Amino acid sequence: MNQGKRVGIVGAGNVGATVAYSLAMLGSCHEIILRDNKIDVAKGKALDMSQAASAVRSHTIVTVADDMSDLTNCDVIVVTAGSPRLPGMSRDDLLMINAKITKEVIEGVAKYSPDAIVIMVSNPLDAMTYVALKESGFERSRVIGMAGILDSSRMASFIQEKLGYGGGQIRASVMGGHGDDMVPLPRYSTVAGVPLEDLLTPSEISEIVARTRSGGAEIVSHLKTGSAYYAPAKSTAIMVEAILRDTKQIHPCAVYLEGEYGYSNVVSGVPVMLGANGAEKIIEVTLDDTERAMFKNSCNSVSSLIDTLNRNNFFKGE
Ligand code: 2OP
Repeated sequence: MNQGKRVGIVGAGNVGATVAYSLAMLGSCHEIILRDNKIDVAKGKALDMSQAASAVRSHTIVTVADDMSDLTNCDVIVVTAGSPRLPGMSRDDLLMINAKITKEVIEGVAKYSPDAIVIMVSNPLDAMTYVALKESGFERSRVIGMAGILDSSRMASFIQEKLGYGGGQIRASVMGGHGDDMVPLPRYSTVAGVPLEDLLTPSEISEIVARTRSGGAEIVSHLKTGSAYYAPAKSTAIMVEAILRDTKQIHPCAVYLEGEYGYSNVVSGVPVMLGANGAEKIIEVTLDDTERAMFKNSCNSVSSLIDTLNRNNFFKGE
């Protein structure tokens, strides 16, 4: 199944390499092509991963692209290239530097893999997804940001920790941008179908919401020299799999809104149906007044980053 599928990964650092490893173990694509400025390091990782794939009898091979022109005819391209978060930095501090890197990468993607579905991972995530969409000229269903699966997984693990049970049965929901004002939704979170609000007190739920919002920073504070990569990579691999296997499953992902939830010209995290054509459908969840206000706040934060890019004449032709 899926013989011949090609996945390009731009940026073979901790996140990119772990996405590649995760996909190689699953064996749902024929070839994974790593692209990184540190070509020798990428070559070493590619050999190592191809050998790991052989160990589990996966037919996936991992290769290296010398430059973007080798990244041809990919079905999916994951973009992790960019400066990572360091202690004391917010995701937004990375805006201008990573926007420039994203622009260069996306020019190559549009030229050499014009039919690819792009999954953005670089931070600040929602703004980089916006940059990738505008610079590629692709339809919005083909440029999708990874964050919601990660943030929801973090919330689920904090729920499990707080409860002391329910592991593997928790469905947590987080919408909005991948920033400090993301929108965890306890009302849409359950443990084996039981609403969270029947299992935890309001103050316990508030603690989980706050810890989810700062879940990335918590890991940065321990690692000190970089940011999280296992959960970000696994979340990305889940998206790639859903697309390659055309599962039509619903996952929270960052997409460009055109009127959904009352917003346009902004990228935000919402539930989307993923399939062979990318974000094939955006699901509109009913939000109460408080949730709507949080979502508005989160969209406004992303819009202000887009405004900063515009003020700096970042986009071509503007
Ligand atoms: C994270 O949330 C750094 O955005 C990345 O871990």
